[in-house]
Amino acid sequence: LDNGVMRTPPMGWLAWERFRCDIDCEHDPKNCISENLFMDMADRLSEDGWRELGYVYVNIDDCWSSMKRDAKGRLQADPKRFPGGIQKLARYMHDRGLKLGIYGDMGTHTCGGYPGTTLDKIEIDAQTFADWEVDMFKFDGCYSNATEQEKGYPLMSKALNATGRPIGYSCSWPAYQGGLPPKVNYTQLGEICNLWRNYGDIQDSWDSVLNIIDWFFENQDVLIPAAGPGQWNDPDMLIAGDFGLSMEQSRAQMALWAIMAAPLFMSNDLRTVSSGARSILQNKMAISINQDAMGIQGRRILTVTPFCMDLAASCNRRTDMPYRYQTTLSKLNYTTGSYEIYDVFTEKTMVLKDSTSFVVSVNPTGVVMWYVSAPGKLNRRLFYKGGRL
Ligand code: DGJ
Repeated sequence: LDNGVMRTPPMGWLAWERFRCDIDCEHDPKNCISENLFMDMADRLSEDGWRELGYVYVNIDDCWSSMKRDAKGRLQADPKRFPGGIQKLARYMHDRGLKLGIYGDMGTHTCGGYPGTTLDKIEIDAQTFADWEVDMFKFDGCYSNATEQEKGYPLMSKALNATGRPIGYSCSWPAYQGGLPPKVNYTQLGEICNLWRNYGDIQDSWDSVLNIIDWFFENQDVLIPAAGPGQWNDPDMLIAGDFGLSMEQSRAQMALWAIMAAPLFMSNDLRTVSSGARSILQNKMAISINQDAMGIQGRRILTVTPFCMDLAASCNRRTDMPYRYQTTLSKLNYTTGSYEIYDVFTEKTMVLKDSTSFVVSVNPTGVVMWYVSAPGKLNRRLFYKGGRL
C-alpha cells in the first residue's frame, strides 16, 4: 500500500503471543492487557536500546476494548484497564519517539469475543483510530465470511486513507483464506495493505516456528513477488525471549525472518528478556539485512536433507549433532573471485575465494548466517540453516 509508511518492514512489539487475552488485572496486574503493560513496554523500547534499532511500534492486540460501543457507536477502550483512553496512550508513545498500533476485527466479534467491525462500522472505526492518533491498525478476520472480507478489507483501506492520517494497515485476510491463489490475490493485497498475515498463528515453540518457515519457503514463488516497500508478507511475531526457543532456535528465527523481509514484531516481556535473547533481537547486521531498502524477500536456494533423503519431512532436520556442510562459494553462484564474509552472529570477518572449499558447522536447529560482499558488486546474502536449507 502506497501510503508513505512501512517502506521497510515495520519493527516493534505486539502483545498477542506473550500476553494473549489476559484481562485479570486484579490478580495479574503486571501482565494483564492494560495501559500499564503498553507503557511498560514503551519504556523498555525507549530506554533499552530498541528504539534506536528501529523497534518503534507498540501494538495492542485483541481484548483492549469495552464490551459495548459508546452512545455514538464508537469503539471504546475498557475503562478499568485503559483509564486514560487510547489517545493518551498514543501521546505517551509519540512523546518517546514511538508509535501506537491497535487491533480490530472484520466481523461481528473479535476472535476474543469483543465488538467487531461489521461492514457498516468500517468508516466510524477508521475515523476513531485516526482521531486517537493511532499509527497502525491490524484488521483480524474472525466471525466474517469470505464475501464480507472481500468487501471489508479494501473498504477499510479506503476509510483509513480518507482520514488523512497515515496509518499502517495490517490485514489478516489472506490467513483466513488459506494464504494462496486463486483465493488470495496478492496483487490486490499489495495495493490495499502494508502487511498481511498469510498463515496461522505462531505459538511459543520451535515446532510452530518450523511449521511457519516450511510454509513460507515452500510457497516462496508465490510470496516473494508480493513483497516490497510498503507491502510485506507477515509470518507472525518474533518469540525470542519467551519460553519455547533455545538460543540456537532464537537465532534461526531471527535469521529467517530477516531474510524473509518480515515485519519484526517481538512478542515477549521486554522487562525480563534475557541478555542472550536481547542480543539476538538487537543484532545490527540481521536487522540491516531485514531493513534493506530494496525490500526484496529472500529465497531458499538449496535444500539439503542429510541421512533422511527418502523419508518423511519430519526427518529432514537433524537434532543430534552439528551438521557439517561442505561447499564452495562458486557452487552457490558467487563466481567473481574473492568475497568478504561477515558472520552475522559470531561477528567475525574473513575473505574467501569462490573456488575454495569450506565447511560450515551448523548446530542442531540452529543457523549460520553470512553476509557476503564483493567490492563493486551488489551485496548478496547467503544462509545455512541446521540440517536443511
Ligand atoms: C487471531 C490472530 O491471527 C492473532 O494474531 C491474534 O490477533 C488473535 N486472533 C486475537 O484474538
